[in-house]
Amino acid sequence: MNNYIVFLLVIAMCSWSSEAWIKENCPINRIMITNQLGGGQVLGYKCSNWLSQNWRGGLSTLNQNRTWEFADVTNRRERTRYECDLWFGARKEFHFDELEIYRAAANPRCNQIRQWAARPDGIWFRRDHDKPLGLVRPWKKR
Ligand SMILES: *[C@@H]1O[C@H](CO)[C@@H](O)[C@H](O)[C@H]1NC(C)=O
Repeated sequence: MNNYIVFLLVIAMCSWSSEAWIKENCPINRIMITNQLGGGQVLGYKCSNWLSQNWRGGLSTLNQNRTWEFADVTNRRERTRYECDLWFGARKEFHFDELEIYRAAANPRCNQIRQWAARPDGIWFRRDHDKPLGLVRPWKKR
């Protein structure tokens, strides 16, 4: 019985200290969308997160970025998530709707970088700056 209580105490202390450690040493995550369309094309965006915060705007110059920085929230009721509508073209004819640009995993992650680059052939993606961008999918056309 006593051993069992000591065991529970040790478990409780370990989980408390690992949580405290994560909070203190968890650099924030960063996601970015980048206009790499070229030719003076403006990338339009309308993004929102799991807290129903909204951002709307346009990236008008080549390599212009829009960045969000945040700490992961993952618990039973909520989970960090960002999604974007993206478009370009005179009639916004090239577009993505509700593209999920970030979703937290079951456990909070730190120091994550996600870059989404809009190019003429579609949306390109990479996880870190030292990895190459890869084509994820072509634009939808209306
Ligand atoms: C956008 O972000 C990328 C990657 O961090 C950087 O290389 C680039 O210089 C940024 N663009 C501008 C216009 O600051």
